[in-house]
Amino acid sequence: MSLTSSDFRKAMGCFATGVTVISVDQGGEVHGMTANAFTSVSLDPMLVLVCVDYRARTHAHLHARKRFGVNVLRSDQQAISEYYARSSEAHQHAEDAGAHFDRTAQGTPVLRGALAYLECRLQRAEKAGDHTIFIAEVEEVVVREGEPLLYFRGQYRGMEKVKS
Ligand SMILES: Cc1cc2nc3c(=O)[nH]c(=O)nc-3n(C[C@H](O)[C@H](O)[C@H](O)COP(=O)(O)O)c2cc1C
Repeated sequence: MSLTSSDFRKAMGCFATGVTVISVDQGGEVHGMTANAFTSVSLDPMLVLVCVDYRARTHAHLHARKRFGVNVLRSDQQAISEYYARSSEAHQHAEDAGAHFDRTAQGTPVLRGALAYLECRLQRAEKAGDHTIFIAEVEEVVVREGEPLLYFRGQYRGMEKVKS
């Protein structure tokens, strides 16, 4: 029996994750993309990675701008995740989805009300199959109170406490 991409997706879908929106300045506008292929890489220096499909518009924007925000979504921000997962979206209706952005001192757009944001500076980009691994140094973080939005088996979830 040969492994299919659907088998692979199903297996990876068992790995529950949080949900982020990658935010990048694009000529003064904010471009966002929903991403869960995000992880920490190193503590010293503080590095993270995000894997981006080479067909995503975000791919070119990250290469061009080299600075971006990783916004960890709160449990009530599912509409924002759905909005930034639409490839056809021109992003002029972001506010209807509840997405408002502030700018850091460096001019990086960051999502207002996200559970946390990390301001990142691109260090290197490694091609890997149909994605590119963007490795970036974390320059600034903000962490807020609240519960995360989760993604498991292709569906959004909330947190449930496990009995100890
Ligand atoms: C929960 C979720 C997680 C996603 N994670 C990623 C990801 O890590 N990398 C990626 O390239 N696309 C990911 N996507 C798909 C992109 O959000 C989607 O293709 C988006 O339309 C790309 O936008 P862009 O073309 O404006 O960059 C994810 C979608 C969802 C719903």
